[in-house]
Amino acid sequence: MRTTTKSSTRSTKASNATSRVTSRSATVEDAVSILTDDHDKVKKLFKQFEKHCKADNTEAKVETANMICMELTVHAMAEEEIFYPAARMAIKDDDLLNEAEVEHDSAKELIAQIQFMESDNPMYDAKVTVLGEYIDHHITEEEEEMFPKVRKAKVDLEELGEQLMMRKEELMAEIMSANGQINIEVLKQHALDAVSKKH
Ligand SMILES: [Fe+2]
Ligand SMILES: [Fe+2]
Repeated sequence: MRTTTKSSTRSTKASNATSRVTSRSATVEDAVSILTDDHDKVKKLFKQFEKHCKADNTEAKVETANMICMELTVHAMAEEEIFYPAARMAIKDDDLLNEAEVEHDSAKELIAQIQFMESDNPMYDAKVTVLGEYIDHHITEEEEEMFPKVRKAKVDLEELGEQLMMRKEELMAEIMSANGQINIEVLKQHALDAVSKKH
């Protein structure tokens, strides 16, 4: 669905001979669309987690929780390193950005706890479920407040999108093993680093 928006944006810009977008790769996607796609993906994963819990499928449940932690780790790092600093400069709303970063910190605490917890711990499901609730709230704030403000501001979202994609790919390559499986030890290390670096 976003592909339509993206291509229409691109074709509008393509008609402008001075547009930098025309010289970029055809796969360029704007930063807000990339982040919103990530949000949709992780929301689906939380729904799957709930389904696996109800079905009492421990293996699928843990696998999904690890995917949630991986997706959120990569997404939060890319946002904090690339998108938030650009948004902070562009929209001049420090309160909004500060709140978003505090929300990331709460999520990171839970992600670290989940990563270091045995899946048969009676609190495991609750931790993941509450993480889902935090993330739901955070996503709503980003999509309804921050992203519209950034879209209105003078930000080169395609340029930012390229930077986001590059960083995400780099992080994915670090966390995923060659066989396409999540490298849990690397993910745990990221969780520890994230908690120790919190704001
Ligand atoms: Fe986000
Ligand atoms: Fe965020």
